[in-house]
Amino acid sequence: MTENTTKFLHAVEMGVGAWAWGDRIIWNYGGSYSDDDVRGAFETSLKNGIRLVDTAEVYGRGRSEQLIGQFLKEIDQPVLLATKFMPYPWRIFRRSLLRSLRNSLARLDVESVDLYQIHWPIPIVSIETWMGELATAVKEGLARTVGVSNYDQAQMLQAFSALARHDVPLASNQVEYHLLDKKVERNGLLARCKELDIRLIAYSPLAMGLLTGKYTVDSPPPGMRGRRYGRILPKLPTLLKLMTQIGQDHGGKTNAQVALNWIICKGAMPIPGAKNAHQAEQNAGALGWRLSDDEVAALDEASDQVLRE
Ligand SMILES: NC(=O)c1ccc[n+]([C@@H]2O[C@H](COP(=O)([O-])OP(=O)(O)OC[C@H]3O[C@@H](n4cnc5c(N)ncnc54)[C@H](OP(=O)(O)O)[C@@H]3O)[C@@H](O)[C@H]2O)c1
Repeated sequence: MTENTTKFLHAVEMGVGAWAWGDRIIWNYGGSYSDDDVRGAFETSLKNGIRLVDTAEVYGRGRSEQLIGQFLKEIDQPVLLATKFMPYPWRIFRRSLLRSLRNSLARLDVESVDLYQIHWPIPIVSIETWMGELATAVKEGLARTVGVSNYDQAQMLQAFSALARHDVPLASNQVEYHLLDKKVERNGLLARCKELDIRLIAYSPLAMGLLTGKYTVDSPPPGMRGRRYGRILPKLPTLLKLMTQIGQDHGGKTNAQVALNWIICKGAMPIPGAKNAHQAEQNAGALGWRLSDDEVAALDEASDQVLRE
């Protein structure tokens, strides 16, 4: 197996998520923030050493990939591009994957991506079939490495073995992971990823903004996020207070920086979304320092308390 091809992903401590770059439905793109804001998030991330951008064909129905394609033309630094294929139930033919990948490459205006992921394990077409197509993408030079997303342990092992039969390593599994969702620790997925050298990419690492501490019961996040997290907001103050205190002990790190650093300490790669330069700059401040083991344990205890209540 071509083992070294996935090594670069293990060297990436953190990326930036581009779901909000073009998405009106959940994130209100075009309302509370603009293309210029998003460009600021991209440029500031790069300036601060964040080189991996995670997008998907479905983000803003292609707009996210298109914006990234534009931004790439305005810079001369190398960027690591990760995007995703959505196996919609009506995509019943294997060739839809390479066609979608080529459409993503056209929007990004590049010849290949660094990581091509299956977005969800929708079971209409078998995992083996999609893995065969991912292997073809690697062999045709359209994707440097390939991964999955939202796969549970059994699905991930199936994908790992199927790819191995094509001599292609499974590079990553992108799943939800943050202080308010620690399923991957409890169900063994994180440990299994480490064992098999699969990079666990942690999505929504700020719990869609909640862990920054800016949302409260009186000032909840708008729209779908408010509905999703309404019940957890009243339980957060103790955890947020501890995060602030720990941040202060590290020379004034913010809650967002503490939340992201906690994921890095756990051996996963957070990909926080940023809508503007300010958020990107703040998130980049999660790098270059480490929480102590005692602080990680204290954060775990406080988050367990929230999840138990
Ligand atoms: N594979 C999947 O199924 C899947 C699912 C979800 C996400 N993802 C990936 O993971 C990435 C990140 O997840 P996410 O965007 O859902 O959630 P997130 O990273 O937890 O939160 C991002 C949001 O939090 C707020 N925020 C970010 N940094 C901030 C800061 N420093 N200070 C204050 N507010 C800040 C912004 O929204 P407001 O300013 O509006 O609060 C931002 O859009 C996505 O962009 C996407 O690439 C993948």
